[in-house]
Amino acid sequence: MITLGIETSCDETALALIETRYKDSDQSRLECRVISSLVHSQAELHSAYGGVFPSLAKREHGKNLVPLLHKLFEDTGFEENLGHGSPTSVMLSDEKFTSILETFKENLSLQNPDLWQSLAGAHFLKNIPKIDRIAITEGPGLEPALWVGINFGKIISALWNIPLIAVNHMEGHIYGSLLEAGLPFGTWQEVKRPLLPALVLLISGGHTELVKIDEKWTYSIIGATRDDAVGEAFDKAARLLGLPYPGGPHISMLADLARKESIESPIQLPRPMLNSKDLDFSYSGLKTALLYAVRDLQKQKGSETLDEVTRKGLAREFEEAVAETLLGKVQNALEQAEYGSLIIGGGVSANRYLIEKFKDLAVEHDLPLYLPSKDTSGDNALMIALAGAVGNKTEKVLKADGTMKLS
Ligand code: KG4
Ligand code: ZN
Repeated sequence: MITLGIETSCDETALALIETRYKDSDQSRLECRVISSLVHSQAELHSAYGGVFPSLAKREHGKNLVPLLHKLFEDTGFEENLGHGSPTSVMLSDEKFTSILETFKENLSLQNPDLWQSLAGAHFLKNIPKIDRIAITEGPGLEPALWVGINFGKIISALWNIPLIAVNHMEGHIYGSLLEAGLPFGTWQEVKRPLLPALVLLISGGHTELVKIDEKWTYSIIGATRDDAVGEAFDKAARLLGLPYPGGPHISMLADLARKESIESPIQLPRPMLNSKDLDFSYSGLKTALLYAVRDLQKQKGSETLDEVTRKGLAREFEEAVAETLLGKVQNALEQAEYGSLIIGGGVSANRYLIEKFKDLAVEHDLPLYLPSKDTSGDNALMIALAGAVGNKTEKVLKADGTMKLS
């Protein structure tokens, strides 16, 4: 089965094509090969605003989706791999193409003129590809951004008469951690099968959640942030230290240097909720504590800009405070119930220091650990395609759900 994944929940426009098949008759062993995975990041554009600017994200997704799909087909070798062999029998006529697009015109030309304009001239869409389903992120995320992907998915689904499957972005992050790292496109691999029940820590720009996956692969959220998400806290902390958006990788780089150069922080930051026995997190106090520390240090030094050594020390302290709280809560969860494996997913799981800490924790608890690769930690459509390939949520009235929960 070939699945096209579409991801537009935040500031990455992403498309991916995968093929999946079952290795056995009871459908427990899934194999997957990535045909292509493309991510167009808008981070540089948003960096001027210090964070993601929703209406800009919406406009950019609208501009990017059609050219990105064209590139995906070009890279994939449309005729050899996705064409049906006899192109004429699977080409939409000009009339059919125009009449299907017309049904979307009224809403789309007003709501998303950029997407509408690029669709109207996209004659390559008349070629119906050999794809079995289209998987689309329906939430959570920024609603204006989600809508662009959903509208795009609806249109190509209508043009090609291919079913549309709705995917939860956070479920996508879980599947993103179950693929082998660094395999070249086209290589078949078995999708990893974590021992259940599995404990999942999801850490991204919008989420900090502990999730239990039970033996029937159903999700329950057993802990969550009460305010800021951990990625959001990294981004805000970076801003306070004068670092660009997205801030996580920059904080991480400075913190690594501080450890290498044995630079200590001039202040101590709190470890919010570390000692509470529940499984919830809180990061807004940590960010505020850093804000006060930065102000005090600026006053002491009589300068708006903090020197490099101070910034490295603060980045280290911030990263270590975050790591301790995340590890502490995972530790609590592991003490409260039996788990067969530990899965970490989401953009923040690209953090090297955190990964090392979690590797140690997994060894200590004798648990298999599943982590995303460099290519699947941040937002991508490969994880959406994979979650869509195993999913079955075909909704007639598909709509964006910014605050959608895993269920
Ligand atoms: O999952 P993701 O790509 O998008 C959302 O679904 O939100 O996560 C993005 C977040 C950003 O806040 C970014 O700063 C953070 O992941 N991030 C990191 C690192 N790389 C990305 N945070 C800490 N350390 C990193 N190396
Ligand atoms: Zn994400």
